[in-house]
Amino acid sequence: MATLNIVILAAGKGTRMHSDTPKVLHHIGHQTILAHVLACAKQLQPEKIIVVYGFGGEQVKAAIHDDSITWILQAEQKGTGHAVQQAAQLLNEDGQTLILLGDVPLVDVYACQQLLKQSATGLALLSFNKSDPTGYGRIVRNHQHQVEAIVEHKDATELQKAIHEVNTGIMAMPNRHLNKWLKQLQNNNAQGEFYLTDIVGFAVEDNVAVTAEVTEDEWSVTGINSKTDLLQIERVYQTRLAQKLLHQGVTLKDAQRIDIRGSLTCGRDVEIDVNCLFEGNVVLGDRVKIGANCVIKNATIQTGAHIAPFTHIDDATVGEQSRIGPYARLRPGTLLAADTHVGNFVELKNAQVGIGSKINHLSYVGDSTVGKNVNIGAGTITCNYDGANKFRTIIEDDVFIGSDSQLIAPVTIGKGATIAAGSTITKNAPADELTLCRAKEQITITGWKRPQKIKK
Ligand code: UD1
Ligand code: CA
Repeated sequence: MATLNIVILAAGKGTRMHSDTPKVLHHIGHQTILAHVLACAKQLQPEKIIVVYGFGGEQVKAAIHDDSITWILQAEQKGTGHAVQQAAQLLNEDGQTLILLGDVPLVDVYACQQLLKQSATGLALLSFNKSDPTGYGRIVRNHQHQVEAIVEHKDATELQKAIHEVNTGIMAMPNRHLNKWLKQLQNNNAQGEFYLTDIVGFAVEDNVAVTAEVTEDEWSVTGINSKTDLLQIERVYQTRLAQKLLHQGVTLKDAQRIDIRGSLTCGRDVEIDVNCLFEGNVVLGDRVKIGANCVIKNATIQTGAHIAPFTHIDDATVGEQSRIGPYARLRPGTLLAADTHVGNFVELKNAQVGIGSKINHLSYVGDSTVGKNVNIGAGTITCNYDGANKFRTIIEDDVFIGSDSQLIAPVTIGKGATIAAGSTITKNAPADELTLCRAKEQITITGWKRPQKIKK
């Protein structure tokens, strides 16, 4: 294919977002609105991507941080034609240019490819039929149904205002024509702007073919101007991701109540209950079940594991057939082998846990290596932090830690050792023995009375 230049118009202020963040830096799913447009642009393998920016430009550049993009400042917003003029000196002499809008995140690669086929020889527009076309440029066609002009809403006659076919703003054309037409633009119109859409009239004058491809997918050409638009597009985007999962055979209890901000890869017969949020890269193996209200980020959950409701997982791996939650928290660096059990109100951080080990209730296990078939009783705390430094706790295979124990790191509990409930362990415990550390004897004070409330 001939050389392709893509110009993305993104100089708009986005006043109606009522935000200090530039409009194109708000997020849809895991990435910014502009990043979605750039992802589409890159799939078309252009020779050049030029982003025309204005308001908050430095912030936009820093956030996108991509050396393959050429950034052009449009200091004053004098219209879409003026915006493209700023990029004119960068356009190749031959080849084609595709114009995209920086605030239309669901732009469709396939529709762009269709436009580029048309624009090899002429001007190709993407249009759609809008039930309420107020504000949009109208596609004016002649009796042979050929496109004659685009007339902006504010410049339109009553008859033209009745047209429902509108300009999406996405278009493509040969560079040799665009370079000529950009020089011809004038701002003698209702808004005093340089309209890019005036090139349609120039094309007709120059006998260059003009085509308008009508898209059925309105969301793929919808721009974001307000928080309401942002919400609507987010929901459309999420619904589409959910539909993809359903097509792959994933069971979703409610396709409207799942959010994916990143990539979610699922094996066969995966079930996901309501209100789950997946962030970053999440991989769920075959027959994994995720209970309601889980937040799972950058994690791998292996075959047959069940995650019960209200569990938070961040940067962790859960081994096959494991049972996690409800109300468990797996923090970064947690690596659970197969058949592990982690129960309610258990927090794990940078902890490697061996096959078949159980930490079922109310515990904190951090900076620890836990062997196979270990049972950690309720309320066990690894004291890994002395206020300045962190230390590791090593718990070898087949250890039993009694409830309400504190293991003061650095410390090693030898293979097969038992720690009696309520112990505070400060020294290594030998293998296969019972170690305990409590007050020497249990005493009873007979006749003792509980304090009474003092009457005033
Ligand atoms: C434009 C089209 C209109 C179309 C509509 C679709 C023109 C003259 N009109 O309308 O036919 O129906 O889009 O939404 O082209 N921008 C700049 N610099 C500027 C002006 C705009 O970069 O000086 C960018 C905006 O950031 C936005 C895009 O161009 O991404 C469209 O601008 P916007 O003001 O939303 O559209 P209109 O000009 O009203
Ligand atoms: Ca405008």
